[in-house]
Order: sequence, then structure tokens, then C-alpha cells
Amino acid sequence: MSIHKSVLVEETVDALKLKKGMVVVDATLGGGGHSREILKKIGNTGTLAAIDQDEEALKRFAKFTDDAKEAGGSGTKMTNVCLIHDNFKNLKNILADLKIEKVDAILADLGISSDQLEDESRGISFQSEGFLDMRMDRSKGITAADVLNTYKEDELKKILREYGNEQYANSIVRKIVARRKEKPVTWTSELVELIGNSVPSAYKHKKIHYATKTFQALRIEVNRELEALESFLSQAIETLKPGGRLAIITFHSGEDSLVKHTFRENARGCICPSEFPVCRCHRTPKVKLITRKPIAPGEDEISKNPRARSAKLRVIEKI
Ligand SMILES: C[S@@+](CC[C@H](N)C(=O)[O-])C[C@H]1O[C@@H](n2cnc3c(N)ncnc32)[C@H](O)[C@@H]1O
Repeated sequence: MSIHKSVLVEETVDALKLKKGMVVVDATLGGGGHSREILKKIGNTGTLAAIDQDEEALKRFAKFTDDAKEAGGSGTKMTNVCLIHDNFKNLKNILADLKIEKVDAILADLGISSDQLEDESRGISFQSEGFLDMRMDRSKGITAADVLNTYKEDELKKILREYGNEQYANSIVRKIVARRKEKPVTWTSELVELIGNSVPSAYKHKKIHYATKTFQALRIEVNRELEALESFLSQAIETLKPGGRLAIITFHSGEDSLVKHTFRENARGCICPSEFPVCRCHRTPKVKLITRKPIAPGEDEISKNPRARSAKLRVIEKI
């Protein structure tokens, strides 16, 4: 069972304009909340390719589809679900393996699920004790402890500033570097303590916990989240059928700005200087912006699910 509460479900599924028989990619299966709604819309004749780099998310959803099959399918024939353990940055290869050329709709609900956040052994949360791992895909890659103990001081500062907008990046990193000379930083509680000793006391009494930004920045680095997103977006746009829709839900400003700029860039036509009498660039827009401003959750959703407060949904349609 997943404990994850899906965000902006109705808004996202509506925006994707799903119909029976469609081929859809959920690039971030997670707790499967969006996928379950997608399945209801595309029905027995549709196909859902559900991707997650976390094998545990896929195992949970496989259990759901098996149970549904046993219970008579609950209106959905579950043979049309393909569960794929991979990074969505490999979208084109994933679809080629499935012999799917073009798709009708794609969704990515970025970041981590509550199942991952609450799993102490992942060390993603500063609220529980755990080894500083932070990998979504525990079968490969480096851990947050590796980042903290091996990266150069300047690299660490850049990560905290760019991925966390952490104003005390310099002092936090100085403490980390001094500490790792004596002993590696390995546990969440050690990192929280180091951060606590590096920031002014007023910072510790803010609404947002003083370790939030550092933990977020490390997680983004460990999982190479922005690089994966950038590569995924261009493949997703290429993969859509004309009229097909792409919906992205983001949770922090770095992600949202990447999505916003990529969408705008692909929605632009001619870029010739205005003094040119005729167009020479022959550039045509690839997509239409469906949401000029992002869709945000309402008060009601935020009160039921505080994690939704920073969510932003942007949608485009392939031309
Ligand atoms: C916010 S959760 C998705 C929740 C889901 N929409 C739901 O309704 O339950 C994000 C999920 O995406 C996965 N994920 C994040 N980045 C990924 C990537 N680059 N490739 C594949 N999966 C990714 C995470 O492992 C996590 O399970």
C-alpha cells in the first residue's frame, strides 16, 4: 500500500484530454494515484506505460493490478499496463523496446513520493534517522554521503545555492568540510546538527525547517534530477502524436523554470529579426501552450495535503 497522496489529480487527468483506447505514459508512477485515474479513462482498449526508477513503486503497483485482475478487473483489463523500471530520461529507448512509436499523452509528477520520504533507510528526510543515501534508484549511482564526503568545497556550495537556494550555503559547507576531515558525514542526524551549527538562530525559528534546503539540494544532485528532466522534456515532445498532450507537475522553482522555458521555446515560431521582410529561419512552433500560467492546487487540496502547496502544473499540446 502506498501512503502517497497524489497532487492535482483531477486537473492533470482533465488536461490530458484522455479517451478510451489511448496510449499514455506515466513517467513517474510513484504511488500510482495518477495512473489509476488514467486507466479509468483509457479503459480496456488503452495502453499505459508506467515508468519509475524506484523498483518498490513498481512492485506496489504490480500488486494493485494483480488484485484488480483477481477481483474481475474493476472495469479495467490490467493486461494493458506496462511497468518499466528505468529513468524517464531514457523515454525514447523505453518506448522503442515496447514497440510504441508515438503516444497520446504523457505525465510527469516530479520529485519524490511520500513512500520514499517516509522510508528511513533512504535518508531523504531530515526528520528521521537514516544513512544519507537519497537515491531513488537504489540499484545504481552515488549516495548523498558520497557527495558530502568526496565533492570539492566549491562544488558543494554551488549545489546548495543552485538546487536549494540556501543562503547559508558557504557556512554550512565550511562546517561539513571541517567535519569530514575528522570523520565522514554519514547519518541524517549528523547533517542536521552540522546545518544547525552553521546558521543563525533566527533561521532556526522559521516556518521552513533549517535543514530543508540542504536536504533538497543534495537529493537533486544525487538523482541528477534537472539533467534527467531536461533530456526527458525534449524526448517527450518528440514522442507525442499531433494533438497529444504533455503535463508536468513540479515542486520547486528550478524544475518549474526549466519546464516553463522549454515549453515556451518549443511554442515559438519565427525568430528572425523584425527588420527581415520575410522569414528566413523557417522555424515553426512544435507545441501550443495550454497553460500560460501554471495551475496550482486550491486551498482545499492544500489543507488536506500540505505537500501540495508548492505544486505547479504546466501543460502543452503537440502541433
Ligand atoms: C511525486 S512521485 C509520483 C506520484 C504519483 N504521480 C502518484 O500519483 O502517486 C514521483 C515518483 O517519480 C519517480 N521519479 C522521479 N524522478 C524520476 C526519473 N528521472 N525517472 C523515473 N522515475 C522518477 C520517483 O521515484 C517517485 O516514485
